[in-house]
Amino acid sequence: MTTTDRCPVAFPLRRPGRPFPPREYADFRSADGLVRSTLPSGVPVWLVTRHEDVRTVLTDPRISSNPSHPGFPRAAKTGGVPSQDQVPGWFVALDPPEHGRFRKTLIPEFTVRRIREMRPAIQRIVDERIDALLAAGDTADLIADFALSVPSLVISDLLGVPHADRDFFEAKTRVLVTLTSTDEQRESATKALMRYLNRLITIKQRRPGDDLISRLLADGTISRQELTGVSMLLLIAGHETTANNIGLGVVTLLSNPRWIGDERAVEELLRYYSVADLVAFRVAVEDVEIGGQIIRAGEGIVPLVAAANHDGTVFDRPDEFDPERSARSHVAFGYGVHQCLGQNLVRVEMDIAYRTLFARIPTLELAVPVEELSLKYDGVLFGLHELPVRWSSTEE
Ligand code: HEM
Repeated sequence: MTTTDRCPVAFPLRRPGRPFPPREYADFRSADGLVRSTLPSGVPVWLVTRHEDVRTVLTDPRISSNPSHPGFPRAAKTGGVPSQDQVPGWFVALDPPEHGRFRKTLIPEFTVRRIREMRPAIQRIVDERIDALLAAGDTADLIADFALSVPSLVISDLLGVPHADRDFFEAKTRVLVTLTSTDEQRESATKALMRYLNRLITIKQRRPGDDLISRLLADGTISRQELTGVSMLLLIAGHETTANNIGLGVVTLLSNPRWIGDERAVEELLRYYSVADLVAFRVAVEDVEIGGQIIRAGEGIVPLVAAANHDGTVFDRPDEFDPERSARSHVAFGYGVHQCLGQNLVRVEMDIAYRTLFARIPTLELAVPVEELSLKYDGVLFGLHELPVRWSSTEE
C-alpha cells in the first residue's frame, strides 16, 4: 500500500506523432499503486489504468460523479462536468439514488428491442448520406460528410429535433468537448443550447409528436426544467463519440476488409479505440483504497478506459485489432450505474454505417497516406479531424 505522490505526469498524453493509447499507459498499469497526474486545468488527479481498478472506481459508492463535491476535477481550465444548478437534469453527474430516477425513466427508450425497431430509420439516414456523397462527386471528407451527420441525424430523430437545426447544435457541442475552449465560449454554448431546447420543449408541450421529448413530457417523472438538461446530455453524449468511432473504424476496415459486416468487428473497434478515454471524471467522498493506493476524500480520480481496454491481463495482444477475441468485457462505455445509455444504439449505427458504406462504395479508399490523417489532441475524445477519401466515379 502506498500514498506516494510520484512525479506528476502532465495530461493528456495524446500528442501529435504518437500512438493512441499512449505507450505510458502500459508503464502506469505495471506501477505500484496509482499514478499522480495534472490535468490541463492544473488540478492534480489519480490516473487509474488497470482494468480491474477502473471497474472498481466506476462502482465504488465512496466515489462520486457529482461535481458539487469538493475536489471534483475539471479537465480544462474552464468548464467540465456541469452541476445541477448549471444544467438541471444532467444526470451523468448525479449519484444513486437521485441518478436512478432518470436512468429508470430513460432505459425503455434504449433497450435492444427499441433500438432494433429504429434500424429502418437509421438505414434510411445512412443511405441518404451516401446518396449525397455520391451525388457530390468522387471525393469527400468522411468525418464532416458522413460520420458526424449520421449520429446527429439519428439522435435528432429520436429526440424530435428538426434536422435543419443540426449545424447549430453541432457547432455548440464542438465548443463543449474542446479542451481549449474559453470560459466565455463554453458558457455561451451551454446557454444557447439550453435556450434552444427550452423553446423546443415548449413547442412539444403544445404539439406533442412521436419522439422522446414528447414521451418524457407525457410521463412527467422528469420535470420540465430537468428535461432541458436530459435532452442536452443525449444530444451531446452520442454525437462526436459515435462519429469518431465510425471514422476510425472506416480506416481500420479499409486495411482489414474481411471484417466488414461482421458484428464482432464493431465490438473490437469500440475496445481498440476507446474514444471516450477522458470522459469519466470522479472524486473520492471518503478515503478509499484502489489498486493498493490510498485516495483521500476530496481527491480527483480519472479512470482511463483506453488504458483498461489495453490491459494485457484481460485482453491478449491488446494492441492488435482482432475481432476474433472476445472484446465484450471492454469498458469503452464505462461500467456500473453510468454505463453508456446509448450503447445499443451505437452498435447498430456503426454496423449499418460500415455495411452500407462499403457495399455501396466498394472502391472507397483513403485519399492521403494513413500517417497523414489528422488526429484529435485538443478534445476529451479521441478521433480524426478529417478523413479524406475517394472512390471510382463509376460507382452505382
Ligand atoms: C461510441 C460512442 C459512445 C461512447 C464511446 C460512449 C461512452 C460513454 C461513457 C464512457 C460513458 C460513462 C460516463 C461516466 O461513467 O461518467 C457514457 C455515458 C453515457 N452515454 Fe455514451 N457513449 C457513446 C455514445 C452514446 C450515445 C449514442 C448516446 C445517446 C444517444 C449516449 C448517451 C450516454 C448517456 C446518457 C450517458 C450517461 C448515462 C448515465 O449516467 O446513466 N452515449 N457514454
